[in-house]
Amino acid sequence: MEIDVFTLFPEAFAWFERQRHVANALAQGHSLVYVDYRATTPLTGGQVDDTPFGGGAGMVLRVDVVEAALRARYDADPVTLGDTRRVLALTPGGRLLDDALVDELSAAPALTLLCGRYEGFDERILERFATDRVSIGRYVLAGGELPAMVLCDAVLRKLPGSLGHEESALEESFSAALGGAPEYPHYTRPAEHRGWAVPDVLLSGHHARIHEWRLEQSRQRARELGETGEPAS
Ligand code: 6GU
Repeated sequence: MEIDVFTLFPEAFAWFERQRHVANALAQGHSLVYVDYRATTPLTGGQVDDTPFGGGAGMVLRVDVVEAALRARYDADPVTLGDTRRVLALTPGGRLLDDALVDELSAAPALTLLCGRYEGFDERILERFATDRVSIGRYVLAGGELPAMVLCDAVLRKLPGSLGHEESALEESFSAALGGAPEYPHYTRPAEHRGWAVPDVLLSGHHARIHEWRLEQSRQRARELGETGEPAS
């Protein structure tokens, strides 16, 4: 998979790149490229944003600036980009990122992520260039960089070989294998600490019973969250 992240702060991703599952994905031939809007701005002095028409607080990322950055990267009119790749604008009012969307995106050959800053994007960027608007939750962050990292983290760890242990991504929280329910509890040594014992079933070596216990724990947690947790069909 090829992921391009358009941002005013490419250096913000340095820590993210060093995460094991990200490094693994890159070593497997997947790519993560950062494109700085400022590098190709048609405006003087590195300007990328402007005051909103109609007045109001803050600054808005300009459509001509984003167009220039997309053209420089893809050598095409960005209104046609959506024919060949998902172009995701990260914006608080977008479609909520959940496991189903992550699955969908992890199957795509190429993604373009547009990070906004300040008050956000000129609406024409969203209307003309983006195929999707994605949000990581109903609260407002200062920019799209953290959401872009959240999205890349979730997508890259789904790719084969990015986690050390292939099964770890299958029966995890919110996965189809758990019917969309949260994951069951985990325990490790010591089997008892200050009298806090690990559930006997996990020490029994009885794999069928352990599996059943885990599914029930997962369903119980789903009920606590008020979600279904029903097994996937
Ligand atoms: Cl994608 N962007 C910003 N700025 N804030 C957010 C968000 C995105 N998702 C939740 N809050």
